[in-house]
Amino acid sequence: MFEPREALVILGVGASAGLALGSRSAGTTYGIEPVRLRPTITSLHLVMPTPGSTQSFDSPAGTLDIKDSRTAKTYSLPIAADAIRASDLKKIKTDAPDDLGIVSYDPAFLNTASCRSAITFIDGDKGILRYRGYPIEQLAEKASFLEVAWLLRHGELPTQKEYDQFVHDITYHTYVHENMRTFLHGFRYDAHPMSMLQSSIAALSSFYPEARAIFDPAQRDISFIRLLAKTPTIAAFSYRHVKGLPVVYPDNSLSYVENFLSMIARMTEPRYEANPVFVRALEVLFILHADHEQNCSTNAVRAVGSSHVDPFSAVSAGVAALFGPLHGGANEQVLRMIEEIGDVANVPKFIEGVKGGSGRLMGFGHRVYKSYDPRAKIVKRLADDVFKITGVDRGLEIALELERIALQDEYFVSRKLYPNVDFYTGLIYRSMNFPTEFFTVLFAIARMSGWLSQWEEMLLDKEQKIARPRQIYTGYEERPYTPTIKTHLSK
Ligand code: CMC
Repeated sequence: MFEPREALVILGVGASAGLALGSRSAGTTYGIEPVRLRPTITSLHLVMPTPGSTQSFDSPAGTLDIKDSRTAKTYSLPIAADAIRASDLKKIKTDAPDDLGIVSYDPAFLNTASCRSAITFIDGDKGILRYRGYPIEQLAEKASFLEVAWLLRHGELPTQKEYDQFVHDITYHTYVHENMRTFLHGFRYDAHPMSMLQSSIAALSSFYPEARAIFDPAQRDISFIRLLAKTPTIAAFSYRHVKGLPVVYPDNSLSYVENFLSMIARMTEPRYEANPVFVRALEVLFILHADHEQNCSTNAVRAVGSSHVDPFSAVSAGVAALFGPLHGGANEQVLRMIEEIGDVANVPKFIEGVKGGSGRLMGFGHRVYKSYDPRAKIVKRLADDVFKITGVDRGLEIALELERIALQDEYFVSRKLYPNVDFYTGLIYRSMNFPTEFFTVLFAIARMSGWLSQWEEMLLDKEQKIARPRQIYTGYEERPYTPTIKTHLSK
């Protein structure tokens, strides 16, 4: 549950009593959407291809020769970019008339590429993460979040003109329809902010029916801008609702992150002055979370979007997937786990419990990273900066001990389980006095840029169709229905 208290104090510096809402200084502009939209845009997609990505199945690098022992027939399947087409397996079949051919069976997509993508590159063994070719470490150190959001979508860094226009567009679309505010007021005081975010993002689609024209580039542009601009506003409104506080409207004189913190924490001061260390920390965390190729939520966005639904509906599926404790919800669970452990002396017993199957070490392990998560390294350094301001989080000692023991324990070493991005982010967020339930919302604000970029790439990919996996049926053969109970249809 949210505790109505310090967040409002610590996030800002120099908060002073002052004028109430609406008393902005001269020259400050308001976030009303302009009547005529001036879409920035045009997708460039001029990316340096990574090795293998240009190989096509029409001119394959080689073949995979398969012999079917049932029929003694041999098949040659083209190999391109280290892949075979699963649909080529359909050719492999017996003479039985109802044989539809071989399918590949891959629960949880452990070894299935669902798309070609030029957005994010991960080498899990080497701990490499790049957005459009740029190493995450360099972007985290030098780039702004909106620059990264542009990069993810367009494939190239923006020119100064493009960037300025983009920032302007995002800034001027931060307001939401007043009915969204009343919609949020319909939630209970203890509603989880991820539930509120998910349904509000889905509800936005009803405000922008024109967004359904997904093959109109201008509509995609404005949807991208609206979603990036309005997600922090909705998130902040839900925070204020749960706290029982009046909402704070966007302040267009502030940067993306400053404005978000202002909507979260501003009270009576005329202009909210966020602590610059917190602003940069949050901006870096947004950059680290912006995209992560075909993870659970991105896959959800692509799958739902493949039905050609509007982008608001598609990304609301991403928010739902991110809510789960094995995905974005892990940052919340790490904090709960640390609370449960309670004291550093209890860490060895807790680790033994995990090894015995009592649960998972939250914030550890990753489907792709098998050496280390490069984001976790950056987050750990960021934590130091934040703790210099806030004082060391009380959970840090427990976290460090968990990490120390796990990194030398055979169970974790042999399974290649390392701290992931979520292990330390929760401690940073807590130090900044965000409530635990709100951590995954911060992840979602950042990931919106990646979801939308991936959604558009899927939409424009000529090879993509509606996502529709096959199954291996394990149920009954046909059997006749004989009523066994009485219903309203019984005589
Ligand atoms: N603690 C203890 N054991 C674990 C953990 C963990 N955190 N993660 C995996 N294992 C064990 C698992 O029990 C299995 O052991 P065994 O082979 O004896 O059955 C083995 O390691 C392989 O696990 P898996 O479930 O097959 O691995 P996966 O690739 O399907 O799962 C994961 C990846 C991230 C879901 C998993 O590591 C996990 O549940 N971690 C904890 C939750 C977490 O921190 N999630 C955040 C991921 S990073 C941010 C994001 O993507 O949202």
